[in-house]
Amino acid sequence: MDAARFTRRQFVAATSLGSLAAVAGRSVPARAAASGVTSKLAVRGGTPVRTKGFPGWPIWDKDRDEPQVVSVLRSGVWSRSKVVAEFEKKYAELLGAKRCLATTHGTTALLTALNTLDIGVGDEVLVGPYTFVASVSVILLSGALPIMVDTDRETFLVNPEKMEAKITPNTRAILPVHIYGLPADMDRINAIARKHNLVVLEDACQAWLAELNGKKCGTHGNLGCFSFQNSKHLTCGEGGAVVGNDDAVMDRAVSYHNFGHGGSRLGSKCRMTEFQAAILLAQMARLEEQTQRRWENAVYLTAKLREIPGITPHRLYDGVTRAAYHLYPFRYDPQEFNGAPRDKFIAALRAEGIPSSGGYGRLNKAAFIEDTLSSRNFQRMYSRDQLDHCRAQIECPDNDLLCSEAVCFSQRLLLGTKEDMDDIAAAIGKIHENREQLA
Ligand SMILES: Cc1ncc(COP(=O)(O)O)c(C=O)c1O
Repeated sequence: MDAARFTRRQFVAATSLGSLAAVAGRSVPARAAASGVTSKLAVRGGTPVRTKGFPGWPIWDKDRDEPQVVSVLRSGVWSRSKVVAEFEKKYAELLGAKRCLATTHGTTALLTALNTLDIGVGDEVLVGPYTFVASVSVILLSGALPIMVDTDRETFLVNPEKMEAKITPNTRAILPVHIYGLPADMDRINAIARKHNLVVLEDACQAWLAELNGKKCGTHGNLGCFSFQNSKHLTCGEGGAVVGNDDAVMDRAVSYHNFGHGGSRLGSKCRMTEFQAAILLAQMARLEEQTQRRWENAVYLTAKLREIPGITPHRLYDGVTRAAYHLYPFRYDPQEFNGAPRDKFIAALRAEGIPSSGGYGRLNKAAFIEDTLSSRNFQRMYSRDQLDHCRAQIECPDNDLLCSEAVCFSQRLLLGTKEDMDDIAAAIGKIHENREQLA
């Protein structure tokens, strides 16, 4: 049976009795043999499962987005004013937070929050290494020490089981990251924080409208931070926000982000512009529908991928009522794919028309960490023992393994239809069934 003679729909139909449904019993070799279905992988010159693209990003339209931006342009008021204030009010309402402060970036939101919570020189901050560089660099930029807590390979999130062992008298804060928009185990993290009198700063930079027990990510800790950079689900090119419920704390954040005005403390400048807020207000109108679509497609896709040998979709913690899926991750086991390394699998998947990537690298081993710890400033700020303690925490074996086995799909793919999800599963099923061609 030559897949080249099939349209995608026919291929899926054929393989629903062969490759794909074969996958259902995790006894693919036997069933595949029974179905007699073999296809040339696209990476070997066969016909791809899919030739059409997935939705592009960002999404905007003439009627909703353009007039908002033009109106700011024509007003002549371009730096922070009424439009930013309107965005802050609406975003706080959307999240169920009392207050929101808009900033220039997610990074400046995190820096503002750390300063506001008084975290700096002498402090240790617990953070997981499976994240974007900024989650860790902001801790060092604030003069504090990032103490790595290993990743839970099943969930891709910081492992609360390993958290308490890392607490010392210098620990001041926990910085859980809802990476890929998958909610971290906030109930356990908050319980640990309460027990040890720590503050919790959520890095929700990828978790717009993700929820745990119906409560939005970013509102579980003392403060939550968001990014609105170009790839993000709520975007204005570059932008960020801090959310919180404590007026005194939020007043300090407002002051810090505006040179310390209105207070007596040192400040910086990270004020959002009216243009950024205008785009965000237009984008916000689509966020709920898009978030729900990604969530429903992800749940559907997980059920399909779970049935394919060698593919282990991420696990969601109990209590997750919605994940945001900035990326959709799963783990790949080469043993079930004829020993083919992950890169070969990703290349084969791309050739079948499914864009994918290997996710994050080993941030715990990133050179900038040692470079900063051995810098003149950090040597003046910390004793050798404190720096060595921080260095020792970069050993995160579960994270290192995860970084070599993860495969991810961009959020764009989840904005498609159920049939698009079928294509993703069909492509992986086809590669599995024809895995000897990966050699
Ligand atoms: C988890 C995480 N934290 C922080 C940031 C920093 O946000 P920004 O790029 O808006 O500064 C990002 C951005 O990608 C992120 O994904």
